[in-house]
Amino acid sequence: MKFQTTSYHFNLLKDEQRLAVFYEAILDYVKNQNKDNLIAFDVGCGSGVLSFFAQPFFKEIFSCEIDSKTFNCTKNNLNDFDNISLFNDDATAISFNKKADLIICEMLDTALIDEEQVPVLENVKKYLKDTGEIIPQGIFNLAQLVNMEREYFHYDDVGENINYKPLSNEILYSKINFLEDINPKFEGTLDFKIRNDGEINGVKITTVTKLNENIVCGPTPMLNPPLLIPLDNLNVKRNDLIRLNLKYIMGKGIETIKTEYVR
Ligand SMILES: C[S@@+](CC[C@H](N)C(=O)[O-])C[C@H]1O[C@@H](n2cnc3c(N)ncnc32)[C@H](O)[C@@H]1O
Repeated sequence: MKFQTTSYHFNLLKDEQRLAVFYEAILDYVKNQNKDNLIAFDVGCGSGVLSFFAQPFFKEIFSCEIDSKTFNCTKNNLNDFDNISLFNDDATAISFNKKADLIICEMLDTALIDEEQVPVLENVKKYLKDTGEIIPQGIFNLAQLVNMEREYFHYDDVGENINYKPLSNEILYSKINFLEDINPKFEGTLDFKIRNDGEINGVKITTVTKLNENIVCGPTPMLNPPLLIPLDNLNVKRNDLIRLNLKYIMGKGIETIKTEYVR
């Protein structure tokens, strides 16, 4: 199958590890289901690749993509599959006249800050059966204080030269289960222990994706690459304890991120 895509979706398609974990999770889901009547939604379907993976196993798939240019490519990609209905719509407001057994929603980004995974799920979960499941199931967020070369917001180039030096332990600061209610406003006080003398000027956020009970995927180039957030410069010594207040709004962009040392 050859996919017609935008250049962004082409990069998503080239990320084999990202595709593999979603494919495995879809196979894991269907292996214990009666396949005759299964209904899936693929929200933020992009090129349609996850609908394509799911289509042999589902009676109906409703796929939704907001971006018109992408949608025009996706229409061609999914044209041959009678069990897929494709909508050029905003999934934060879309309504369905059927309930889904499975929602596939890969609108992930690091800590869910910049993409609309959380507002989309808040809307679409109304149409999930009581026994329904979501792929992915959730995420874990980790944080670490660092000295970074580039003193501005940026995503790490996974697999390329690392341009920051870790200075503290790495802590797990939040877990999100997509089946539960999610407060999009995150606020937390994070406690770090310094491991190496140096100058802190950033905090690195790493998001790990839990596809299902069996599959967990760390950052890949196109799935939650670590986010580096600048902080005020602070000289630290090994064994110092540093407390940081971190706030952001999921789905509202990295400009909502606020940080402050707690002295
Ligand atoms: C990270 S891409 C993933 C695409 C596809 N699920 C895949 O795995 O290749 C997220 C997609 O969600 C779409 N999107 C973003 N906000 C949306 C919204 N509110 N409603 C529907 N689609 C949206 C984007 O245009 C993009 O194509």
